[in-house]
Amino acid sequence: MGRLQGIICLLSILVLINDATCSRNDEQRLRFDKNTGQFRILQVADMHYANGNKTPCEDVLPEQFPFCSDLNTTLFIERMIHAEKPDLIVFTGDNIYGPDTADPVASMNAAFAPAVSSNIPWAAVLGNHDQESTLSRQDVMKHIVGMKHTLSRLNPFGVDVIDGFGNYNLQVQGTEGSDSVSVLNLYFLDSGDYSTVSSIPGYGWIKPSQQFWFQETSMKLQKNSKAPALAYFHIPLPEYSSFDVSNFTGVKQEGIGSASVNSGFFTTLVEAGDVKAVFTGHDHINDFCGELNGISLCYGGGFGYHAYGKAGWSRRARVVVAALENKLNGSWGTVESIKTYKRVDDEDLTVIDNQVLWIKTP
Ligand SMILES: *[C@@H]1O[C@H](CO)[C@@H](O)[C@H](O)[C@H]1NC(C)=O
Ligand SMILES: *[C@@H]1O[C@H](CO)[C@@H](O)[C@H](O)[C@H]1NC(C)=O
Ligand SMILES: *[C@@H]1O[C@H](CO)[C@@H](O)[C@H](O)[C@H]1NC(C)=O
Repeated sequence: MGRLQGIICLLSILVLINDATCSRNDEQRLRFDKNTGQFRILQVADMHYANGNKTPCEDVLPEQFPFCSDLNTTLFIERMIHAEKPDLIVFTGDNIYGPDTADPVASMNAAFAPAVSSNIPWAAVLGNHDQESTLSRQDVMKHIVGMKHTLSRLNPFGVDVIDGFGNYNLQVQGTEGSDSVSVLNLYFLDSGDYSTVSSIPGYGWIKPSQQFWFQETSMKLQKNSKAPALAYFHIPLPEYSSFDVSNFTGVKQEGIGSASVNSGFFTTLVEAGDVKAVFTGHDHINDFCGELNGISLCYGGGFGYHAYGKAGWSRRARVVVAALENKLNGSWGTVESIKTYKRVDDEDLTVIDNQVLWIKTP
């Protein structure tokens, strides 16, 4: 809160008006746009950022290779922010690529710099590569939580109560001046890195402690309102393998890199009922979205130039647009639709794969 705004807030509290606009977190409050009735989220998946201009691109065409580095990832985010003017930017893990990172703090600062300097609120979760240099997962997340304009949080109830680092939820309120009740809820979870159970190979999974936290939070939120919700994390759930070209939008060009066991989070989501779509990264050359049991399971599509990809297949980003119902008398109602599309990193940031994820049923 700025100094002038602080003084105005203090005055208005003294005369007992309008103190709802003066809470400590006012600058971080997420709201739908009062002109468009929309809330727009830009997902950035798998930046794999390392050392800036010293880090070459992977899987670009031979003629692109000499002029391509992490700075192309930076440029792509800047162009996406300019084109979309999102209300929130979500980084779904593998934000930095630990093994190639000389200094993880410098890498994170550079990777998130376009979000920080845009003044747009942003949120991040961890992937499986973020901790693969000199900082632990806890320390990586701690650094992120301390950055400017981020809404990222370490964990509810302190660090040690639930598994992982960076499990939190955010509430999006209606347009300016509306009730302070949440009309859209967002969940962020740490899907882990690698299995630590010797008899189970492969990637990590969302643990029971995290699922209890999610269940409790969802139940509490649903007592107040029936707001739809979205979930963001890194590693796809095993249920992402339920689809083929006949029932998804986008492409599948590699296997589904989920854990080798199913920890039941999809069932937990279906039971809770509020989450309408899940967004992950991890598999860079899959970018599809398909629906199972009323929940859309979506990939962001690989964003980062220092991440494996497919030469000649453009890096891309997913946008989600939640829209409020436009009442006949000119006011905004509750969320009426949730739609998505992607933009590819070509000259025009071409929009592809427009898709409706959810429509309110009367
Ligand atoms: C990377 O950025 C450079 C400098 O802006 C540009 O010339 C080059 O075409 C970009 N490469 C790719 C693959 O986008
Ligand atoms: C998608 O279609 C395939 C058959 O082509 C079917 O086996 C699968 O169950 C379908 N998935 C969903 C989620 O409907
Ligand atoms: C518009 O109608 C809704 C009910 O549909 C009501 O809650 C709201 O107060 C009305 N707004 C105005 C500006 O009249």
